Amino acid sequence: MLITLRNILDIAESKNMAIAAFNATSLEGIMAVIEAAEEENTPVILQFANAAHGKYIPLEKIGKVMVMLAEEAKVPVCVHLDHGDNFDEIKTALDIGFSSIMYDGSALSFKENVANTRYARYIADVYGASIEAELGSMGAEGAEGNVMGAYTDPETAKIFVEETDIDALAASFGTVHGIYKSEPKLDFNRIEKIRELTDVPVVMHGGSGISDDDFRKCIDCGVRKINFYTYAAKFAGDAIRKMAAETNGNLYSHDVFVTARESMKETYRDAIRVFRNNKVSL
Ligand code: 13P
Repeated sequence: MLITLRNILDIAESKNMAIAAFNATSLEGIMAVIEAAEEENTPVILQFANAAHGKYIPLEKIGKVMVMLAEEAKVPVCVHLDHGDNFDEIKTALDIGFSSIMYDGSALSFKENVANTRYARYIADVYGASIEAELGSMGAEGAEGNVMGAYTDPETAKIFVEETDIDALAASFGTVHGIYKSEPKLDFNRIEKIRELTDVPVVMHGGSGISDDDFRKCIDCGVRKINFYTYAAKFAGDAIRKMAAETNGNLYSHDVFVTARESMKETYRDAIRVFRNNKVSL
């Protein structure tokens, strides 16, 4: 069943948990996400980051499959555009049937970010969809493992949410995308303060490499959506390498795809269990 980000995050809020948001880059990835969520009987967010992954598969193709399989799923699924950076891309995703979009204006000035996010909110409303936006920047990790982006300031976040009326706020509090060079140090007080002042669900980007304990602390502070992808792709790569080493003779691509799907599904099931925050089942 396809539902909006707002509705899926309401479920998260009522249960003090976070909904997993996994990035898909292939049919195998989409199936892994939906099968993991169905086997865990837990809602899930299936997202596509066109800016990062459009070079592997076009939004117009993968998006249609995401929406179709989400509609058929036995659990609530939100289909979301991750890091939308222009209005054409946002409109394309909504035309395909995405129930939610992210507008990422984090590289812009505050004024421009507000103006563009307001317009993205207006577009999303036309389609009855939800919107996530970003303030501060997850950026990249520097040589010493420090986060290079700007942490989100809670007082500014309050004004940003009031001005834009977004459904969820991607905030920077110590996470970065991709593989961490050193142990991440998260600013839990910042999450609490942002939640207290804005009263919108906080989104964590860069979930790969965060400890289970830190995930749970973040959820207790108000994180309701956790973006997670790199580790699933990396572990699937490890599984393919192992499978290939054990293969005598020919290595077939269909076996590679199945191995990747099974591996991603296991990684996603583990993450969903942690993000459910001690609830045995929903
Ligand atoms: P990771 O790939 O680091 O898990 O982060 C995913 C993400 O934040 C997508 O927006």
